[in-house]
Amino acid sequence: MADVTARTDAADLDGTRPPGTPVTGTLLPAASPHAHVDAHLQADLGAGTDVGTGHVVVDLDAVATNVSSLARRTGVPVLAVVKADAYGHGLVPVARAALAGGASWLGVAQLDEALRLREAGVDAPVLAWLLSGDAAPVAAALRRQITLGVSHPRHVEAVVAAARASGQVADLHVKVDTGLHRNGVDLADLPAVARTLAEAERDGLVAVSGVFSHLAWADSPRHPTVDLQAAAFDGAVDVLREAGLRPGLRHLANSAATLTRPDLHLDMVRPGLAVYGLSPVPDLATPAELGLRPALTLRSRLAHVRRVAAGEGVSYGHAWSAPTDTVLGLLPLGYADGLPRSTTGRAEVWVGGTGGRRVPVVGRVCMDQAVVDLGPGAREDVGDEVVVLGPGLLGEPTAEDWAVAAGTISYEIVARLGSRLPRRWSGSGDVVLEEEPAW
Ligand SMILES: Cc1ncc(COP(=O)(O)O)c(C=O)c1O
Repeated sequence: MADVTARTDAADLDGTRPPGTPVTGTLLPAASPHAHVDAHLQADLGAGTDVGTGHVVVDLDAVATNVSSLARRTGVPVLAVVKADAYGHGLVPVARAALAGGASWLGVAQLDEALRLREAGVDAPVLAWLLSGDAAPVAAALRRQITLGVSHPRHVEAVVAAARASGQVADLHVKVDTGLHRNGVDLADLPAVARTLAEAERDGLVAVSGVFSHLAWADSPRHPTVDLQAAAFDGAVDVLREAGLRPGLRHLANSAATLTRPDLHLDMVRPGLAVYGLSPVPDLATPAELGLRPALTLRSRLAHVRRVAAGEGVSYGHAWSAPTDTVLGLLPLGYADGLPRSTTGRAEVWVGGTGGRRVPVVGRVCMDQAVVDLGPGAREDVGDEVVVLGPGLLGEPTAEDWAVAAGTISYEIVARLGSRLPRRWSGSGDVVLEEEPAW
């Protein structure tokens, strides 16, 4: 789901709920209503601390709480997906927070991401599922006890070769294509792949401990393809078993299926977005309704404040002109920092701290800068704090609001926050904060 280019309209397609009507589907009840006030954010807003041009604050307690809530609700082990720098939240601190919250496994796409976890001393089970077919990185992964998701006969060849050369037994989960048609062993190839793996297992080269697949329409829980993929998955498990394999961990559910399809929890769930407290089914339920706490806040400061007269054009192409005399604020962030240029004229930010207000982003979003209309009576000054997006508890825009403004999904908003934005992590418990920047 995270890689689709546009969100599907769950409300239309599951045919059960016209947009705007209350949720009546199979959403699992939240463990506790999300009445949480983000003390951390409020403290930050009041404190007036230096935020530079901007930075990302990640509430690791929210990550841990989300994971423990998912584990409690599903009753099965949770594999927390931390690929793509933990959806922009910071790979290692988030991995530790997820484990502290009760995650049994971590999941990444690329082998490099898995190796980075090991280099940071994270020794929990890690599954990496996007192999290239090259043997060298596979050998490095085997040395670090990384479980590999094999999704092509070439991967199987590479893994068997690396296991034979290194003397390390390769722990494998077979990824099968049940209808997403992205990666995953083609069902037509599965019997042969299963035979090869069974032989390699008998030779002591591999151990096939799991089987998984990924859903195309999980954000439309009643879309017919979900059941078709689930049935195809059962058939794939049978094929592996008939070949003599015993994959103990069957997993199919991403965040949306974890939250809406308890029948698909199987032996383990594999949520990503929900770990970060964002709703994978925004047309059906908010994070609060799902018992999730958004973890990420993007903060900045006004870098310039100026008065302009009615009719003055603003930013490139003068795509917006002031309708009245007004006060403009300059945000020292732009599309290089992950604010999509496509939000021009549609996004808002929060100014004024606790008890503040939303103001519109006006004119073109530029590479490093964006302009906001503070309104004719604005009292803000250079250096005043801006919350670009956050959990939404004070009224600030959320990642979902930015996604709607950009015509995309919240996954893309958080995962594309720019690398020049420093990340800070707050939280307590077992989480170690050694990656916090000095300023
Ligand atoms: C194979 C696989 N499993 C699980 C996930 C997590 O998905 P989500 O963030 O929708 O929970 C992803 C992300 O796209 C994925 O590629």
